[in-house]
Amino acid sequence: MFQLTRSVTWQALERLHRDTADDRIRDYFGRDPQRFEKMSLRVGGLFLDYSKHHISDAVLTKLIELADHSALVQRRAQMFSGDIINVTEDRPVLHTALRNQADEPVIVDGKDVMPEIKRTREQIRTFSEAVRDGTWKGYSGERIRDVVNIGIGGSDLGPNMACRALLNYRHSDLNLNFHFVSNVDGAHIQKVLRRLDPATTLFIVSTKTFSTQETLLNAKTARRWFLDNAGEDADVGAHFIAASTNRKAAMEFGIREENVFEFWAWVGGRYSMWSSIGLPIALSIGYDGFLELLDGAYEMDRHFIEAPFAENMPVLMALIGIWYINFMGAETHAIVPYDQALHQLPAFLQQLDMESNGKSVDIFGQPVNYKTGPIVWGQTGSNGQHAFFQLLHQGTRYVPIDFIASLKPEPGVEEHHFALLTNMLAQANAFMEGSQEGSQLDPYSCPGNRPSSTLLLDELTPRNLGALIALYEHKVFVQGVIWNINSFDQWGVQLGKRIAGEISERIDERTQDFDASTQGLLALVRQHFPA
Ligand code: F6P
Repeated sequence: MFQLTRSVTWQALERLHRDTADDRIRDYFGRDPQRFEKMSLRVGGLFLDYSKHHISDAVLTKLIELADHSALVQRRAQMFSGDIINVTEDRPVLHTALRNQADEPVIVDGKDVMPEIKRTREQIRTFSEAVRDGTWKGYSGERIRDVVNIGIGGSDLGPNMACRALLNYRHSDLNLNFHFVSNVDGAHIQKVLRRLDPATTLFIVSTKTFSTQETLLNAKTARRWFLDNAGEDADVGAHFIAASTNRKAAMEFGIREENVFEFWAWVGGRYSMWSSIGLPIALSIGYDGFLELLDGAYEMDRHFIEAPFAENMPVLMALIGIWYINFMGAETHAIVPYDQALHQLPAFLQQLDMESNGKSVDIFGQPVNYKTGPIVWGQTGSNGQHAFFQLLHQGTRYVPIDFIASLKPEPGVEEHHFALLTNMLAQANAFMEGSQEGSQLDPYSCPGNRPSSTLLLDELTPRNLGALIALYEHKVFVQGVIWNINSFDQWGVQLGKRIAGEISERIDERTQDFDASTQGLLALVRQHFPA
């Protein structure tokens, strides 16, 4: 069977790693004045500079060869055409169909799924317009003023991140507030409900399966609060809608059939913001804005399919990541958006990457003998500069960084935006150059030679955000293909969900089934939950 680490290209990369380990990134610029021009590219409104990497021309050539020799072309075609590539769940992976603008069928189980997708888009349009223009009325005849999205993981992070990122696209006269409740900790929902009026509040129960404990409990608490405050006869159906693949369970909860916004088993949770899980986005920025987000993602899809690997933004980002993870020994990858509106982006990308590529068995069920997905983390700059950047500059860890920013300033805060961008450029420069004075052992000196990418958006628009998210989706996909793992299941998460169910069902039993530690801790918990 093919063994990645025994391949000629992998071994050549190992040799190149040994040969170039002591290179200084800055020397690459000295040797090639064209390096910035060569190692940067634009796709639509996104510009990527990947020149500040510990990657020589020879390394880049071999990395591209790694992609050439992988199953990428075939697996990419399989993903876009609806083949079953999520083998452990026996499903296609078709989030790309949700933003597909081509007039071509996408076939799943012998059926074109595009008509259903278009129908649901139309349902999202009609509904979001009705809420936004006030024709959708609550039980007392008043219009909706507050929208509460109840969901967790992919049913929370995508719409939550996008609504915050695109706050400037929420029309100022809209007078609609958005809240996101995810944690099963009751403090989360209580804090949100405290401020709301049931007559003007709409709850979106966002759950692919309609079986996730956290979401169902929060939804039940919301419904109890609604009936307690609006009266037992108040119309639940006018205030609760669902985005789910499980129509039956949503209707049993009390949601009207026409208000269950469908999506499909072939949309993974962390890839679902393009589906009806994106309803809060359409409500917040309007349906046309939501379509622009889809358009941006579609543009990145086309680029991913059409561009040669050497000019393909997601492929290049994936290969750079592989170089650091598999050859340079990096354990983590930092995401640092210099944009306050993107403050939820690190959390979103953390789930996207870690839930997808946190795997140690390949698609044939064999353990892998190489590292896979990194620990993804981060927060906004310039805040991060005053928190964890010290470790990145002078600590013992080696952490590649993605700096992300939008170029266009908001009117009225130009000076702030200039400071933001110059801080980012200063950091990327400082990480690469280090401080020239002193020796390696000098406590005052920074060693430098620390790599980063810089991703610039012309402007933080729905379209560019769509392209940015699709870029990372495809980056994660490419890495999964090269590592030969299934990026689309999450059995580790399922294990936790199952055991949580077992423990709560058997809280009253003096069961010996759990380990001694869990039993001991459970005994302490039990004291607060008398039978
Ligand atoms: O975190 C695991 C996960 O399965 C995610 O992929 C998913 O988005 C989340 O749980 C919530 O699941 P659901 O949308 O079914 O409530």
